[in-house]
Amino acid sequence: MIERKQIPRDKCIDNTLTLLKEGYLFIQNRLERYSADLFETRLLGKRAICISGKEASKLFYNSYLMKRKGALPKRVQKTLFGENAIQTMDGRKHLHRKELFMSILNQEQQDRLTKITTKKWQEAIERWERVGKVIVLYDEVNRILCQSVCEWAGVPLSNSEINYRSKDFSTMVNTLSAVGPEYWRGKKARRRTEKWIRGMIEGTRSGKLKAGRNSALHQVAYYKDFDGKLLNTQMAAVELINVLRPIVAISTFITFTAFALYEHKEYVKILRSGNESMREMFVQEVRRYYPFTPFLGAITRKNFMWNGYSFKKGTLVILDVYGTNHDSRIWKDPYKFRPERFSDKKEHIFDFVPQGGGDPSKGHRCPGEGVTIELMKVSLNFLVNKIEFKIPNQDLYYSLVKIPSLPESGFIMRHIKTRTPK
Ligand code: HEM
Repeated sequence: MIERKQIPRDKCIDNTLTLLKEGYLFIQNRLERYSADLFETRLLGKRAICISGKEASKLFYNSYLMKRKGALPKRVQKTLFGENAIQTMDGRKHLHRKELFMSILNQEQQDRLTKITTKKWQEAIERWERVGKVIVLYDEVNRILCQSVCEWAGVPLSNSEINYRSKDFSTMVNTLSAVGPEYWRGKKARRRTEKWIRGMIEGTRSGKLKAGRNSALHQVAYYKDFDGKLLNTQMAAVELINVLRPIVAISTFITFTAFALYEHKEYVKILRSGNESMREMFVQEVRRYYPFTPFLGAITRKNFMWNGYSFKKGTLVILDVYGTNHDSRIWKDPYKFRPERFSDKKEHIFDFVPQGGGDPSKGHRCPGEGVTIELMKVSLNFLVNKIEFKIPNQDLYYSLVKIPSLPESGFIMRHIKTRTPK
């Protein structure tokens, strides 16, 4: 018989504001306080159980016990994800929609995007060198990725649009936890982007716009949902943005990659020696070590027992993504940046969750992990092997309280020159 245990309770009327104050460490702080794997509290006016670690993530991705409908706050849907999109779906309807994303991001399409991004990086370097500019890496990579993903997806983007379209994509991500005018900025960026992309869907369906058959635009425009019908224009736009926006958001991980090189210069030499496996390990450690996605939410489908704890149907369950990636039961010295920890090539289904856990084709794990890793590797190669640059004094502090986080200055670089290998 399993012993029945009491879930520690973090008593308060509502902890939502405290979560925003403590950011990425909100769950870890309380798990330490209660010496437990979970605790109960109130978030967004609901009873919530916060969980962390490998076993917790296995539970979170058990679709027999957990569902997504009702878990994602409307205010997050109105900026980051779009309303009623794939993130909020369950069961067979979700799996059917997920196939669309998996096919848009198949290996061939990933390779095509990597090629286009390599070309855009090269063009950007020539520009920086010619103009002798001081650049903010985060902003520049946003533009590189926005241009690349639009070309790849079959979405026309004129030169005059690059700045504001790339800014709108990053604003949707960066206003995730914002309140007041900042939040309104996020909503405005989404409204403008949705209008633009609805036009692309309509143009494709009417034949005015000729997107290649394999392009993301064509695939979304002609995708038939579980009920055999085309998505309405708004839903199609929301889901195409769910491909475009996160690809632009890889700029956050790329900025952290540059920052990691700055903080751990000892790896530059190893990476310059053409060590392919170190390139892979380095980007994996960037994804583990630096903060990006903080938490994920789901709702229990039924009453059940887990490790002696009772979960009631309809409870909000929050998985600690940042905490699981820094759990000392999984990672030795979790607060040390050590790419070598990935040398064992172990599969990390539930214990390494920067982009979710489980099997992406069977659950909600991110379908863009492969492409994220590839674009980070391409960018790392440019940073160490293709260019030389100076890093002026700047504020490189990144916060564990602000969600999402980024080095304050966005990583300023100057005197950028093409590197001639010695
Ligand atoms: C910038 C790096 C990225 C991060 C940190 C990230 C993170 C995540 C996370 C944490 C989830 C949620 C998993 C869950 O709900 O259980 C997710 C889902 C998703 N991601 Fe990503 N992602 C990234 C890049 C991408 C890329 C490049 C794409 C596509 C091109 C993408 C498309 C999606 C989609 C469509 C979902 C929803 C999947 C579903 O609900 O079934 N993401 N991502």
